Amino acid sequence: MPGLDPKAEIDFLIDDKQALIPWLKCHGKKFTWMHIERELQLADSEGHVFVRISYGEKTAGYIKVGVNGTYIHDFGRIVTFPPETAFIYDTFILPDYRGNNLSFYAVIKTLSFLKERNYKRILCHIEGWNVASLKVFRKSGFKEICSIRFSRILGLPIFLKNGYRPMASIRSILG
Ligand SMILES: CC(C)(COP(=O)(O)OP(=O)(O)OC[C@H]1O[C@@H](n2cnc3c(N)ncnc32)[C@H](O)[C@@H]1OP(=O)(O)O)[C@@H](O)C(=O)NCCC(=O)NCCS
Repeated sequence: MPGLDPKAEIDFLIDDKQALIPWLKCHGKKFTWMHIERELQLADSEGHVFVRISYGEKTAGYIKVGVNGTYIHDFGRIVTFPPETAFIYDTFILPDYRGNNLSFYAVIKTLSFLKERNYKRILCHIEGWNVASLKVFRKSGFKEICSIRFSRILGLPIFLKNGYRPMASIRSILG
């Protein structure tokens, strides 16, 4: 396993996420999914874990981990996870810092952090085209459990599990 650059640091924020929120707001002007009011309000009230990834003095990226109620932007839904389940719902590294194993180490550290806090089931969702993200999570030990296809017909959400099995809601897959 390659060593992590000693300039890299990882901090876990739960009660006070202010070390990250202004950064999310600023970069959210370009990367619009980063700063979504509904998501951040729930992250605060439900005690989500935000992982700040810094390099030198600067924030290079983050991981957001949902527990209990979690707004999943990709599905436009709130999913309530059972106790002992955590869900990584957003991982990001600024383009200039990519390809240096930062997210890999942050994921590994996040898994240890969550396991120490008795989370036994840790989930994430990744789009099939996202080769870099698939690599990071696979090499961190994640195993694929299913594929979910999401679309809307006349505004109604439709979920297909493994390409063919219709699901009434995303909760029945993840919750
Ligand atoms: C996905 C992401 C977090 C990865 O961060 P990172 O710190 O650059 O990741 P790492 O350096 O730890 O590893 C990335 C791996 O993907 C590879 N990779 C990067 N871009 C790639 C691409 N376009 N095609 C194939 N592989 C790619 C790297 O070579 C590396 O593989 P290796 O371990 O075999 O060397 C980052 O690219 C990102 O923020 N992307 C935009 C947001 C996003 O997609 N988030 C994930 C949502 S699920």
